[in-house]
This record gives sequence, C-alpha cells and structure tokens, in this order.
Amino acid sequence: MKISCLSVASAQNFPTPSAQSVLIIPFVPFTSNSVPKTGHVALDQLCQEAVAHRGDTVKPKTEIVLFHAEIGRIVLLATEDCNESLSQKRLGHQVRSAIGSAEQARVFLPDFAPESVADFCLGVRLSSYSFRPYWNKKSEDAAKILTKLEVFCDDPEASAKAEAQQAHLASGVAFSRDLISEPPNVLYPETFAGRLQELEALGVKVEILDESAMAELGMNALLGVAQGSVKPPRLVSMHWDNSPDHAEPTAIIGKGVTFDTGGISLKPARNMEEMKFDMGGAGVVSGLMKALALQNAKMNVVGVVGLAENMPDGNAQRPGDVVTAMDGQTIAIHNTDAEGRLVLADALHYTNTKFKPSAMVNLATLTGAIIVALGSEHAGLFSNDDELSEDLTQAGLACDEKLWRMPLHKNYDKQLDTLVADVCNIGGPEAGSITAAQFLQRFVGETPWAHLDIAGVTWNNKTKPNAPEGATGFGVQLLHGWLQQRFSK
Ligand code: BES
Ligand code: MN
Ligand code: ZN
Repeated sequence: MKISCLSVASAQNFPTPSAQSVLIIPFVPFTSNSVPKTGHVALDQLCQEAVAHRGDTVKPKTEIVLFHAEIGRIVLLATEDCNESLSQKRLGHQVRSAIGSAEQARVFLPDFAPESVADFCLGVRLSSYSFRPYWNKKSEDAAKILTKLEVFCDDPEASAKAEAQQAHLASGVAFSRDLISEPPNVLYPETFAGRLQELEALGVKVEILDESAMAELGMNALLGVAQGSVKPPRLVSMHWDNSPDHAEPTAIIGKGVTFDTGGISLKPARNMEEMKFDMGGAGVVSGLMKALALQNAKMNVVGVVGLAENMPDGNAQRPGDVVTAMDGQTIAIHNTDAEGRLVLADALHYTNTKFKPSAMVNLATLTGAIIVALGSEHAGLFSNDDELSEDLTQAGLACDEKLWRMPLHKNYDKQLDTLVADVCNIGGPEAGSITAAQFLQRFVGETPWAHLDIAGVTWNNKTKPNAPEGATGFGVQLLHGWLQQRFSK
C-alpha cells in the first residue's frame, strides 16, 4: 500500500477520484467544531447538511455515507476523541473498515500531529493485512486490496517521515503474520531458516546451525523433539548490532515448532491444523528483527529461534526417554507433546552462554492451559525480574498487546521431580502454564528473563482492532516498544 501525506490546503482542488475510490472524513460529534471542515466548498456544504439532518443520532462509530457527483462515495465517520497513540491506531482500524473494498482512499486528519498521523497509518496498515498467496478464485470484492491512501494533514513532510518508520514496524508485523500463516508443508525448519537468511540483505547477521552443528553442541533436548520428523531441525540466530554504547545485547528467543502433532503422545484430530502456528514465537522474533533492521534502530538485539517439527514416527522420541540438554541437565520425557519447553531449554541455554545478554525474553505458544486462564485477551508473563515485568507490561498496554503476570515459585518445582532424571518435562494436571515456566527457568541461569506464553493470542478466530482474523503477530509491537524504551536509557 502506498501512503502519501498531503496538505489540508491542497484538498480545495483535489482531482476527481476514480469509481474505486472513497473519501473518509472522521469527526468527533457534538464538539464545538463538530461539523468537519475540509476547505472544499461543495464538500463542506454537503457535510454540514448531512450532520444537521442526522441531528443527535450521530454517536461515535456512526457512519454517514454521502455521494457527490464529482467526488464519489464519501463517508463521514463519527469517532471518539483520538488523543492517544492507541486511539489513533484504532481510528486507523475504524477507517479501514469504512474503506471496505475500495482500492483507493482519501482521509482528512486536520489537527493531527505528525506522530498521530503515523500511528493512524500504522493502524490502517495493520488492519489491511491479508494472507492470500494460495487464493485462486474468491469473490471479486474479497480479493480487492487497498493500494493507495492519501492522508490530508497539517504537516505533510514531518508526517510522511514519521509514517515511514511506522511502515517499517508494520512490515515487521506482516512478516511475522506471513510466517505464521504459511502452511506446514511449505514452512518447515529448513525453509523457515531460508526465509530468515534473507534478512542478511538488511544488515542482520544470520547464523544457521544444522543438525550436526547442534549435535556437536549437545542440544539433545531440541534434537529429541525433531527426531521423529523427516524434516531436519535448525537453530537460527539473528544479530542486529547497531549500538556502540551497548556491548551486551538484549536477547529475544522464540519457539519454532513448525507443526506440533504431539508426537507419540499424539494430539486429537480436532483442530490439529491449528498447530501450524506453533512456531508463533519464532515468527514474532523474526518480524521484530526485520522491523529493527528496516528502521536502522540504534540497538543491540539478538533473536534466536529453535526450529523443529514434532511428528510421530518409528524413530520418534518415546515417553520414558531420557535426554541430556546442552547445559548437562537430564530430562525425562513423560509426554512428547510438551515439546516446546524442550526446544526452548537448549535455545535459552545456547543464547545465554553464547551472547551473554543483559536480559532474555522468550515467546512461545507453550500451553493450552494459558488459554484456559487468560483466553485471548492477555498473554501470560512469567519472569524472575520485577522491573523487567513492569517494563514489559507497560509496553504491552501502550500498544494493545496486553500481558498478565503469572507466578513463579520454587514450590511448583516439586511437580517436575522424577525418579530417573534431573527434571521431568511435564508437571501434572495442576498449574500447567506455571510448571512449564518453572521448567524453562531452569535453563536461564541468573540472567533477567521473561517468558511470554502466547498460545491464546497468536491466532485470531475473529477480527480484532488492528489484527484481522488469522495470525496476529502479537509481540512484535510490544517488544519493539519495550526495546525502544530500553535503548533510549
Ligand atoms: N503447542 C502446544 C500448546 C498449545 C495448545 C498452543 C493449544 C496453542 C493452542 C504445546 O506444545 C502443548 O502441546 N502443550 C501441552 C502440554 C502438556 C502435554 C503438558 C498442552 O498444553 O496440552
Ligand atoms: Mn505440544
Ligand atoms: Zn507445541
């Protein structure tokens, strides 16, 4: 989508749009200057009449649709006050809905500061996302995409500059959504790694470990998960080092199970197709790294993803197996469906010892239990560090990717005790998300660390503001905002 920022004054004689175009005029009803003003004489007259005619029926979210012989379809969109970044982004979503299947649109945003225009445009971009590489025939309207948006604002130059940065963030989110949406016969560890290699063109240092490199490092927890699949695993690190002031990187680690059948502890058939999104954590790490590189962010961040496919097979891992993780801990496998923590055990230890990060945040579609606890409103946050928790929580509130902190406590550790090894990979029926987090904590040492269980927020079954039905990319904006704060200190 091409977005141009134009001055409000230029609207006085804007050229006639095509039939595929729509003009959107947001306004806050019942304020002193309630009737929108565009500077275009005929248009202002039309707006005035329409609003006067509708009287007090105009409530926020009402759409008044008008037609003008030369201008075409016009939508007067009654909105709430848009003073905060979040409401500007949501306005973007509202406007996107009003645009419908039009391919070109114009929007009036007088009195919007450049950052607000940019936040609005971010909302439009996020809400315009669709994943369509596999569509052959669908209805013509459904297939239409918004190709051109013109925004009339007070400071077009500064707005365009701010918008360009937000467009990079939107590209990162879209990259994450694309990866998560890809079917599992197309996206598996090798092809996923191949997609990440392309980030080198943006200046990211990408290193890919194959099976033998991982075996050499002793990553038997991760390798055990992958051994039932004909698709070999990969571990990919992406280093964006662009901050001379920060010697230690901040590390983001993602679970990348490209398909989770459960393995020998096979999942039921119902909804199993959803388990293509079990690489959601890795998808978010990838999208974040792309956004940072596109923006040329002054940060030192390393992203690490553990990629494996969890399949049942003659060579698959069995319940009862014992594996030795990279850090030397022995793990008794009691359920091969608790595979994400095994992948992360090695990915976390590897990241911690190789990059010596100042903090680690991992993302994983780790447990069904977090969906029972928090639904799809909040992701679960587990952390060994109060300040880190608070910073992440605030970053989540600011972008509408909300976190809810869950407890860690040594007493839960007993649930992971087992007779034959140091730790068991499941903790019984109680507190399933917490015992999973306790398991991860054993592999992070003393490093400040947070684990985001994103099982409930990675896929939308219905459209939400700024996240259409499908892959959400939940976490990209949150971590982006958090890192911006962190590296501006
Ligand atoms: N990938 C799943 C968790 C999941 C479930 C994500 C539903 C999204 C939707 C994970 O690997 C898993 O299977 N977890 C098990 C753990 C259990 C065996 C201890 C679960 O949650 O049932
Ligand atoms: Mn599983
Ligand atoms: Zn899984």
